[in-house]
Amino acid sequence: MITIEENVSLKPYNTFGLEASARYFTEISEAGQLVSLLKDPAWASVKKLFLGGGSNILLLNDFDGLVIKIAIKGIRITEETTDYAIVQAGAGEIWHEFVLYCIEHGLSGIENMSLIPGTVGAAPMQNIGAYGAEVKDTFHHLEALNLETLQTEVFDRKRCAFGYRESFFKHEGRNRYVILSVCFRLSKSPEINVAYGAIRQTLSEMGVESPTIRDVSNAVIHIRRSKLPDPAQIGNSGSFFKNPEIPRAEYLKVHEKYPDIPGYEVSDDIVKVPAGWLIEQAGWKGRRFGQVGVHDKQALVLVNFGGGKGQEIADLAARIQASVSEKFGITITPEVNFIR
Ligand code: EPU
Repeated sequence: MITIEENVSLKPYNTFGLEASARYFTEISEAGQLVSLLKDPAWASVKKLFLGGGSNILLLNDFDGLVIKIAIKGIRITEETTDYAIVQAGAGEIWHEFVLYCIEHGLSGIENMSLIPGTVGAAPMQNIGAYGAEVKDTFHHLEALNLETLQTEVFDRKRCAFGYRESFFKHEGRNRYVILSVCFRLSKSPEINVAYGAIRQTLSEMGVESPTIRDVSNAVIHIRRSKLPDPAQIGNSGSFFKNPEIPRAEYLKVHEKYPDIPGYEVSDDIVKVPAGWLIEQAGWKGRRFGQVGVHDKQALVLVNFGGGKGQEIADLAARIQASVSEKFGITITPEVNFIR
């Protein structure tokens, strides 16, 4: 049975805590329910929004259609050898709870991505990543429902076309598939990744010399809590912008004028610049405009102090983009999906 509610507040379903309502709203706990709903002619012409944890969306208006929250649960090990295990999680599992499950089962590979808000199903969509790890590194395959044929299809890593905060599902696959479950190939021997300076520093402050995967997870949790606002307290969706990747020649030109500009080599001719630095240097860090603003500890994060509107955040984002472009000649683009 599927229950469809009317005029439902989406405030609990978006981490920005924006007050917007859905004309119709339902939660799906298994793929079969989704197929029946999509086969029902009564809903065929109604606009639909598929929602995971709501941690990467900016609701600009009330949604005049059907919001379908994907709440498919379940975590299981589907294959196991002495070296690795393949773990499958339903798209509706909370990402951080999945990370903790893997740590408890001694499975290594995603602990650096502890505490990222959102669901497992949303993770491959934008190839989430933090502190030296990305979903694509341990991703095995996923199952997604083709919204046209209503058949389940399997996507391996190649078919997902992962890039930095990018995948097939943000482009050609957008609005054409719903991710149902995701499988990761995780190692049974701890593969400690402390390449990221802040992790090493935190571990040493914690007095840990030979870290376990749980220690790494605890260090990441500590760093995130110190820099990023907790959506339960201040509405936000993590990094609002992607870090721009620019041609080396362009980077060197900006570097002449601003010798402190950080840059990370992506390839021989591409350099990634931290958008947080650009935004801070353009003078936006910690600024507040009514009920919205720029986080005071990480300029890449836009916040809703409570009662702010999606459009106010979008306007602020546009002003920040224009100001960064004017000062540095670098274009920054949102990582967050704008929903109209
Ligand atoms: N920086 C500033 N000012 C700021 C923020 C950052 O100067 O206000 C500089 C820092 O000094 C540092 C550099 O920018 O040199 C990088 O900062 P940080 O390590 O905080 O990482 P980030 O590039 O700003 C990315 C991800 C985060 C992820 C961290 C850690 C993107 C868009 N964001 O941020 O992901 O947690 O690295 O790996 O790639 C998210 O996507 O929602 C997210 C939080």
